[in-house]
Amino acid sequence: MPRSADFIEIESRLGAHNYKPLGVVLTRGQGVWVEDIEGRRYLDCLSAYSAVNQGHCHPRILKALTEQAGRLTLTSRAFHNDQLALFYEELATLTGSHKVLPMNSGAEAVETAIKAVRKWGYEVKGVPAGQAEVIVCADNFHGRTLSIVSFSTDEEARGNFGPYTPGFRIIPFGDADALEAAITPNTVGFLVEPIQGEAGVIIPPTGYFKRVREICTRHNVTLILDEIQTGLGRTGKLLAEEHEGIEADVTLIGKALGGGFYPVSAVLSNTAVLGTLKPGQHGSTFGGNPLACAVAREAMKVLVEEGLIENSARLGEYFLEELRGIRSNVIQEVRGRGLMLAIQFHPEAGGARQYVEALRQRGLLAKDTHEHTIRLAPPLVIKQDEVDWALEQIEAVLTE
Ligand SMILES: Cc1ncc(COP(=O)(O)O)c(C=O)c1O
Repeated sequence: MPRSADFIEIESRLGAHNYKPLGVVLTRGQGVWVEDIEGRRYLDCLSAYSAVNQGHCHPRILKALTEQAGRLTLTSRAFHNDQLALFYEELATLTGSHKVLPMNSGAEAVETAIKAVRKWGYEVKGVPAGQAEVIVCADNFHGRTLSIVSFSTDEEARGNFGPYTPGFRIIPFGDADALEAAITPNTVGFLVEPIQGEAGVIIPPTGYFKRVREICTRHNVTLILDEIQTGLGRTGKLLAEEHEGIEADVTLIGKALGGGFYPVSAVLSNTAVLGTLKPGQHGSTFGGNPLACAVAREAMKVLVEEGLIENSARLGEYFLEELRGIRSNVIQEVRGRGLMLAIQFHPEAGGARQYVEALRQRGLLAKDTHEHTIRLAPPLVIKQDEVDWALEQIEAVLTE
């Protein structure tokens, strides 16, 4: 019987070392729990970077997947299929969108949005050819493609991948005045995360997005909200934009849209922006395939019908309050919204990784980010007694 160490050795020998995973080899999952090949159980507090909001192997999504997989999986967009229209209808109704463009990964959705707003800029706004600018924020995370890393401020993500795609301006996150100052007649879009996830769950000041919305409208700049991580219930609302009562012009979703089973992403917009894309100008062999659509349709139904968004709001608030009550001299700050939470440690506490390792020993899987922060983002199906159990482990580790 191979042991964890054997799998890890083979991965290390044959795989590119573009990740530094914790030393667990998982073999099954159900709800919030996963199990390694030695039979140890863990509470998953990462949820595959929020792609497993509905919990591991959700039975309803599994059923939708297997039923569709036995019928029709891939047609390409050269033909219609009988799932895509229903996916459009249900997603548009759920999110109040007029147009949908299906892709696969989050990064593809981001790339799609950049292409679409550039085209909108030239064809609708009247920006001179080749001059379109998109404003983005420092410490952003939007994916790993060349154009996206071109406007990253993380040297690890960006270094030695040039030459870089031009046409981006970087401003501080959470600073509406900086946005207004950066806008020029050639600005076509402002691409921003409602809460910066990979940066360590950075929540902007209250009122920021209200002002951003107003500034973008006044300057005819497309507001593109990357809700790939914050969307679909993670922050206690269907979309995080609802916390400030605003509406983006373009919304990007991915991750949990596939219910943890299948990569599905989408660009949601009004007709003006997505309407600029004509046949032959954008696409993907797998985007909008019937298997993806069937999975996503069920994943959305599960979120709504099982009250996962409300659960995220309620237990997120409880989790945050209880975390704030932990008396530990290594904690600098605890923050979060819904079940998107983070503990930031004092710089002199020696790095977050040691706490992640200690939590793993106690059966809780979480991920360190940016050296001094641990992100906590369990599946939204988590129950109160499971939150209490997680809190016990966290308290034990941080007060040891
Ligand atoms: C906000 C945000 N945008 C985009 C992405 C990229 O998504 P993917 O890894 O599916 O390409 C991520 C992934 O973590 C993300 O958090």
